[in-house]
Amino acid sequence: MTRVFSGIKPTGNVHLGNVLGALQHWVEDQHRADSLYCVVDLHALTVPQDPDELRSTTLRLAQILLAMGLDPEVCTLFVQSHVHQHAELAWIMECTASYGELSRMTQFKDKSDKAGFVSGGLFTYPALMAADILLYDTDLVPVGDDQRQHVELARDVAERFNSRYGDTFVVPTATFPAAGARVMDLQDPTSKMSKSEDTAAGTILLLDDPKVIEKKIKRAVTDTDSEVRFDVAAKPGVSNLLSILGAATGRTPEQAAEGYTQYGPLKADTAAAVIERLSPIQARFAELAADPAETHRLLAVGAAKAGELAAATLTRARANLGLLAAT
Ligand code: AMP
Ligand code: TRP
Repeated sequence: MTRVFSGIKPTGNVHLGNVLGALQHWVEDQHRADSLYCVVDLHALTVPQDPDELRSTTLRLAQILLAMGLDPEVCTLFVQSHVHQHAELAWIMECTASYGELSRMTQFKDKSDKAGFVSGGLFTYPALMAADILLYDTDLVPVGDDQRQHVELARDVAERFNSRYGDTFVVPTATFPAAGARVMDLQDPTSKMSKSEDTAAGTILLLDDPKVIEKKIKRAVTDTDSEVRFDVAAKPGVSNLLSILGAATGRTPEQAAEGYTQYGPLKADTAAAVIERLSPIQARFAELAADPAETHRLLAVGAAKAGELAAATLTRARANLGLLAAT
């Protein structure tokens, strides 16, 4: 069976872009493949974190994933730092990736230009990501376009390791969600919806109150004429609403556009569809949040399952590398 692995960082709040662009695909994929989904808390450490905040964001993100429908009986859901092999294999990956390769990562260049404190981990982050993927003999890695280069690096280091030390790792392939799953900022529809603080009015959070969702969509920037049609270049605002309406109701944006002649009804229906999509998730989240012990229990089950697979791969890698066995 095809093995799928993906990860999400526990930083900031989950927003509609994460849900429609990534997480809803995870929920669908879990039934089609042998899937592992990971809350990558070690990745969050590349920038300084407040300890209490990191702890609560990690737990909350796991609860959101469960509330969205990831079923621990079907897939393996766990927290990265609960499986210590991630950090161990990451060191081996750091020694397999070249300085030049890591220097070419565009995300490092962007982030290090903006950051006040540039940690060593921010630079070696793609080696940790390669370890995440390679530990599980992963075939497919569903990610956003921004992660393309990192998955490419994971392929390159897997191939290099295999040719130096013998067949050890499965060489993974990145997959990308269908076009149109890119949700744009409601106030600035030419940039991606994101979790940064300064775009609050343009970002719908998964846990936003229905009234807040309605307000944000009603105030969404539209385009100068009043025609409803899907045309991202000429009509970015309306096209974004159509993408959202389509993705929330399982249709293409073009299908979603049918029957609308004015912006008002389009906005009202988009708000209603988003609320209908998010409300059951919010209700389930509230139940899970009221019982953190149950989430901890489910995460322990996930970590035990993942740990077994990871241990087998790390043992193979250690042996092939020539690290002396401890017993
Ligand atoms: P991030 O929030 O950047 O950590 O991304 C987590 C996941 O959500 C990744 O798979 C991203 O590609 C996806 N994602 C983030 N923002 C958007 C967006 N605006 N539209 C669609 N997918 C997104
Ligand atoms: N780097 C990814 C991001 O920022 C998250 C991630 C970490 C990941 N490890 C992974 C994604 C392994 C896929 C596979 O979105």
